Amino acid sequence: MVERLSAHIVARSMTARGSLFALCALLALTRTLVRGDCPPDREEVTHNEAKLHKDLLCAYNTDFRPVKDHKQTVTVKVRFAIKYISFDALEETFTLHSWVAFNWRDELLSWRPEDYGNIDETQLESHEIWTPKMALFNADAAMYQSDQIYTTCLLTSNGTVTCVPHVAHSGICRTSLRSWPYDVQNCTLYFGSWMNTGEQVNFTFYAKQPVVKDDFQDGPGWKLMYVVNERLAGKYSCCPNSTYPMLKYTFVMKRIAAGPAAIVVVPSIVIVLLTLIALAMDAKDNTRLMLICFSLYGHFIFLTEIGYDIPKHSADTPIILLFLRDSMIVTLVGIIETIFLMFLRRRKLPAPNLIVTVNRLVANGPGKYVVFSEFDPSDDVDTKELTGQTSDITADKPSPTFDWIQFAHILNRLNLVVVVLVYIVLIGTYIPRDN
Ligand SMILES: *[C@@H]1O[C@H](CO)[C@@H](O)[C@H](O)[C@H]1NC(C)=O
Ligand SMILES: *[C@@H]1O[C@H](CO)[C@@H](O)[C@H](O)[C@H]1NC(C)=O
Ligand SMILES: *[C@@H]1O[C@H](CO)[C@@H](O)[C@H](O)[C@H]1NC(C)=O
Ligand SMILES: *[C@@H]1O[C@H](CO)[C@@H](O)[C@H](O)[C@H]1NC(C)=O
Repeated sequence: MVERLSAHIVARSMTARGSLFALCALLALTRTLVRGDCPPDREEVTHNEAKLHKDLLCAYNTDFRPVKDHKQTVTVKVRFAIKYISFDALEETFTLHSWVAFNWRDELLSWRPEDYGNIDETQLESHEIWTPKMALFNADAAMYQSDQIYTTCLLTSNGTVTCVPHVAHSGICRTSLRSWPYDVQNCTLYFGSWMNTGEQVNFTFYAKQPVVKDDFQDGPGWKLMYVVNERLAGKYSCCPNSTYPMLKYTFVMKRIAAGPAAIVVVPSIVIVLLTLIALAMDAKDNTRLMLICFSLYGHFIFLTEIGYDIPKHSADTPIILLFLRDSMIVTLVGIIETIFLMFLRRRKLPAPNLIVTVNRLVANGPGKYVVFSEFDPSDDVDTKELTGQTSDITADKPSPTFDWIQFAHILNRLNLVVVVLVYIVLIGTYIPRDN
């Protein structure tokens, strides 16, 4: 038919018009002839579905919203069938892999099934028709993410189009590491139309099941607890006649923390116990000093070790680090106290009255149940060695050094009580818990 038409044009132009027109027509003819290379038994398919496609798309323009009146809104329903999430806490990027179902009505793509052999649905490539461009507002711009969808769409005779592209969205997500390694992260993705107002393209959720979690798999190290979806109407005072709606999805994820818990939380309790045991010991020999110095060293080693594991970009400090810091200070104070007590115990000068009075008060009051110093035979030996006196002389009257030792005991117990209280407060506030 095309060939006949071209020949006709050539014939007419040869006779009637100038040579330029003839040249143009000749070009057109040549092109037809090249196309005509197809063997004659290969005829163009003309069944109902081919006819339907041809008729639907012959006057279609993919650039415009598919409405007959420009004031009409295209309502696009969105459903996320989420398949996989991954979260990089170091880079603060959250990636969601999902099948996103888009559903809208295209007024220009409807047909009467009776005219086409009762076909009432067909498939079209998404690039052949208008598709909504849903942008991720907090996208990680380092990764190229197109708003355009590329897939095959399903079209029904009343013009309803459904496209389900498989897409990955990467968004920026601030991490909060306060309760590391038992932290729960909220990552929110905001979707909407980049340039169209809500009066032109209105993104909404499917009424039923806006988020589907069938076949969902957790990414490495994180467990998805739940997803909250919310539609923000996007009304601003600047523009009373237009809205900029957004679809907001919040993903609440929990770190799978078995490993970090084993290497961080339990050892920090052990190290605290070490300090406490050291402080409960007598300051009379070097064992206590060695033990508590070892505990301080353990704090250093442990802090360095955690430094490798912990994500360092968080705006807030993980409280386990604050705990270790404070525990380190307590241990350091314990070392100073130990040295001071050792110094007290070696004093040979008679103790001032004040100290003797304090000793007597404690020994006679309820404090004697806490300070078991009077009946410690090794202290006695200590005392004798230090003072160089024989036991006959000191049997009835305590030596001046004994007063110092007893005073050191009282200080030590007092310190232990204070340290235990400090640790109870520290553990209560600073040890992260798995709730
Ligand atoms: C269009 O047809 C589909 C399936 O036949 C139906 O589910 C849908 O409700 C129809 N939509 C309208 C606007 O009539
Ligand atoms: C995380 O999101 C949930 C649901 O929107 C909210 O209840 C919770 O307070 C959020 N948590 C944080 C730390 O923002
Ligand atoms: C868009 O959809 C929402 C409900 O999903 C509706 O409340 C709102 O009025 C719609 N906006 C327009 C402009 O049609
Ligand atoms: C909003 O619409 C009203 C009524 O149609 C009109 O009077 C007003 O000028 C419009 N405002 C803007 C900012 O376009």
